[in-house]
Amino acid sequence: MIRRLSALIVLGALLASQSTFAQAPAVALAQSGLPVGTGIYDKSLDPKVEAVLRKMTLEEKVGQLVQYSAGQPTGPGTGRSDYNEMIARGEIGALFNISTAKETNAYQHIAVEKSRLHIPIIFGLDVIHGFRTEFPIPLGLASTWDPQIVEQAARVAAREAAATGIRWTFSPMVDIARDARWGRMAEGAGEDPFLGSKMAAAYVRGYQGSRLDAPDSIVACAKHYVGYGAAEGGRDYNSTEISEHTLREIYLPPFHAAVNAGSGTIMSAFNSLNGVPASANSFTLTQILRKEWGFRGIVDSDWTSIAEVMAHGIANDGATAARKAFLAGVDMDMASSLYHDHMVKLVKSGQVPMANIDEGVRRVLRVKFALGLFDHPYVDEAKENAAMLQPEAITLARSAAERSFVLLKNEPVGGASVLPLSDKVHNIALIGPLADDSPNMLGSWGGLGRGEDVISLHAALAKHVGEGHLFHVKGSGISDGTDADISAAVEAANKADIVVLALGENAPEMTGEAASRAHPVLPGRQQELLEKIAATGKPVVLVLFSGRPLTLPWAFEKVPAVIAAWFPGIQAGPALVRTLYGESNPSGRLVVSWPRSVGQEPLYYNALSTGRPFGVGEEQKYVSRYLDEPNTPQFPFGFGLSYTTFKYGSTEINSKSLKASQLSSGLNKKAADVLTATAAVTNTGSTAGEEVVQLYIRLEGTSTAQPVRALKGFQRIKLAPGETKNVTFQLAPEAFALWDINNHYTVEPAKATVWISANSATGTGAPLEITP
Ligand code: NOJ
Repeated sequence: MIRRLSALIVLGALLASQSTFAQAPAVALAQSGLPVGTGIYDKSLDPKVEAVLRKMTLEEKVGQLVQYSAGQPTGPGTGRSDYNEMIARGEIGALFNISTAKETNAYQHIAVEKSRLHIPIIFGLDVIHGFRTEFPIPLGLASTWDPQIVEQAARVAAREAAATGIRWTFSPMVDIARDARWGRMAEGAGEDPFLGSKMAAAYVRGYQGSRLDAPDSIVACAKHYVGYGAAEGGRDYNSTEISEHTLREIYLPPFHAAVNAGSGTIMSAFNSLNGVPASANSFTLTQILRKEWGFRGIVDSDWTSIAEVMAHGIANDGATAARKAFLAGVDMDMASSLYHDHMVKLVKSGQVPMANIDEGVRRVLRVKFALGLFDHPYVDEAKENAAMLQPEAITLARSAAERSFVLLKNEPVGGASVLPLSDKVHNIALIGPLADDSPNMLGSWGGLGRGEDVISLHAALAKHVGEGHLFHVKGSGISDGTDADISAAVEAANKADIVVLALGENAPEMTGEAASRAHPVLPGRQQELLEKIAATGKPVVLVLFSGRPLTLPWAFEKVPAVIAAWFPGIQAGPALVRTLYGESNPSGRLVVSWPRSVGQEPLYYNALSTGRPFGVGEEQKYVSRYLDEPNTPQFPFGFGLSYTTFKYGSTEINSKSLKASQLSSGLNKKAADVLTATAAVTNTGSTAGEEVVQLYIRLEGTSTAQPVRALKGFQRIKLAPGETKNVTFQLAPEAFALWDINNHYTVEPAKATVWISANSATGTGAPLEITP
């Protein structure tokens, strides 16, 4: 059913998967592709929905559109706490931020036993990168370039959350992030719409499983719709100006992918978009989401984003804010209490049609029926604990962390690369505020993860080398430090053969929501610590823990080995130790362009050429560039080293020309593939390794300017030393599609280039002509 429906409504840039994936620990997966069985597109639910709707009073209908936080707040307070009474009166449809089975059951008993129509509550939570088993932060998970492991991680999170009665997660965050100042870059999949779409669909499949009504499935919420990541200046909640063209090419595709994967809910964002708040924007919420994409689920506002349309300046009172948001397409009010306060009156006075209320309520009831909540409203409290931290979940967390690490630099000191550490390294100085900081390993939105679940780098390294060979000194705090601390660290470094420095950000304070940084550098005295340790002359391995790329030109010049570890989750220590010692060969790749300095932001590889691109012709003055910084990033999108090396043969394509008209007619029809591109990739080193082979396309001569390169495929392959594999990509018509000058999705005649390469800044492209 859903397959057919989706085939009809598909419009955009959701492309056929080109990825093959390496083995990961066994966790039962949803069937690949769209969810089947009970989901929000299951028409057999409609009669049940209508039967309930018919019995409802206006007040009860409005109640289904109301949601409050009833636990640890994740936004400004709403001033309400009389939830028990409200539920009994049928005035609340959803609660969130509750985190135990006992509490969810207690509220559910009131809803099911005391309210007139016995409609169950749906409980939500920000289950972002794990529930109790915390995985790497989403930026780290995306750096795996492994949608399968992301799907598996989401499945584990769903199983654990569902055991507490939480059947709704406010995840995945699919906002494209092009600016490292924005703290929420940590929560998403980076800057690319193709990769972002693959990750979005993987999360949805993982959370929702093959049936939403399975007791271990939870409904996903793709957020924040839309453009939130383009906050001006990288300052959270700031305004955005995004042309319809760029919206459709860059910001919308991951949402569309989530919808096509069956996401039952969408969260409307805080930002204003081209002058209209995203939570009162009928163009994006109704025209695109409902009419073009056929979305049938719930649009939930972000926390008080309905009330915030007053601060934005498009409503002077709560009633107007509620009316504008609702009529634009926001079904449910998270935490504003404005639907509760004004909607009944708005309907009675004819300002909001009853038909719209009915439609909003249908969407809420449909999700509740799809989840099976009417039949099984409660969870078994006795089984809650057993669902958490199961052994295979912990193994998966380690594996995901290992794959998320991006080796940025690994240069020889005294003839051999610093990493992997050799057994000849007897004494290690482990220095830095993040070496033994378990809570920080959980990242922002650490769910129910606990510090005690984490194995820190210190604990794991001590186990590996023995306490006697490990000199562990903090050296400084994350944001503070003393001269004495730094001196003690230098002393420890002097006694050791090598130094492992664990530096970076404070996850809950400096990354995630409301955590923008104008200076994304090492905070406090950490840069000074780094420089003093490097001055000892001991080889240094810098392990960076951060929710964004940090601008560290000094480190990248002077320190021989650097690993971007993001915030790796509960298995941070074991995953890092296995990586440091080469038991796991790094295979993560950057999903954001790593800036040299903050002045380059926003920085992204899939930029337009400009009319005066740098590097063309002799004259280099009147070109698009900075006088005091190169245009290029420190490390490009897609970059990452390995303990082995890979060589790419030339990109071969099986046809030199394609017809635009034929490709256009194949769009959105799951048409046959139209081009085969192949490159031989060889492991030229002496260690087995995994490579993320990437395929990029450029189109020139089209009606709208297209990116200098755009990712259209990737594959993770494993190669033994000396082994060569011919890596083949089958490209569907969508790989050549664009949004044209009239905002139509089409294929145009063009001069095209196809690269199969190791990252976005390397390789020689193969020319291809797209004729009319
Ligand atoms: C505000 C955040 O923007 C959103 O991502 C989150 O899901 C809600 N608060 C609920 O905590």
